[in-house]
Amino acid sequence: MKPNTLLDLLSDHRVHSGESLAKQLGVSRTAVWKQIRKAVAEGIEVTTIRGQGYQLVTELDLLDRQKIVDGLAKEYEDKIDVTVLKEVDSTNAEVARKLLAPGHGMPVVLADAQTEGRGRRGRSWSSPKGQNLYMSMGLTLRGGFEGLSGLSLVLGVAVVRALSRLGVQGAGLKWPNDLYAGGKKFGGILVEIQGELQEGQVQVIAGLGINVHMKEAIAVDQPWTSLLKHWPEQKWVRNDLATEVINGVAEALVHFEQEGFSVFRDEWQRYDIFLGQPLAAREGSLSGTGAGVDAGGNYQLETDGGLISVMAGDISLRVTA
Ligand code: BTN
Repeated sequence: MKPNTLLDLLSDHRVHSGESLAKQLGVSRTAVWKQIRKAVAEGIEVTTIRGQGYQLVTELDLLDRQKIVDGLAKEYEDKIDVTVLKEVDSTNAEVARKLLAPGHGMPVVLADAQTEGRGRRGRSWSSPKGQNLYMSMGLTLRGGFEGLSGLSLVLGVAVVRALSRLGVQGAGLKWPNDLYAGGKKFGGILVEIQGELQEGQVQVIAGLGINVHMKEAIAVDQPWTSLLKHWPEQKWVRNDLATEVINGVAEALVHFEQEGFSVFRDEWQRYDIFLGQPLAAREGSLSGTGAGVDAGGNYQLETDGGLISVMAGDISLRVTA
């Protein structure tokens, strides 16, 4: 993201004169005033102090590429290529475009807003500006398509670990990789397989959406929460969250490539929100009790006929009378 935008300059919450803002931004004072009006129209509170200038009231949590890069673990910093955008159609789509002209390192794209954020199963993903984390990573993995079994679950584990390193406990996973807290969804992962390169290398785009500061949502069709709503005592900084998640995913992938899903299975089960719950799958035609995942990452239901693994599709809690 371009440094020294108006909001960057105001983000110290001091009073800035229109003249000094204009000078630093290289624009006229009228242009500064127009930008202030635009920010106010977008819901950001800025007070005008007569004869002195402007002061930002709203607490902002701006994405900053350099802060994210500075937080990367030493062993990954040369291997990861971070891009931060103000707005994009979908960060997954942007990573796909980057993979067509590979640069140096694993592409990671974050955006402050998405105009066509996508969710799993053809759903859209609500992506209001400045509030949440929208991030995608272009992963290249060895082991062919069969080696991908369990990958999306491993990504979920990496996110829960990242949250725990940031100091919060109690995040759960809903198979395959929805992020839950207090029975409500606060994030999701969209894994899109791009294709196979030479020698069994497979390219995958892993997109992660986490509701961070969101307090109100438009067009969200399921019970939802955000990190701030569920853990209000924590100070949530999107750059720190991004850094922890990138480091966590990079570390988890090393183990996943070497050892597969098996080394993550027990940990995934600890976060399983469905364990022991009455469940329905296969569009309601199968019911049973949640029994965790099998070695391939498929979800198991304990049924009258024994354990049955479900490979794809939605599993939901069965409402019992
Ligand atoms: C889900 O349906 O639970 C998955 C949601 C994934 C949303 C993220 S936001 C960043 C990335 N870009 C997208 O368009 N989707 C994913």
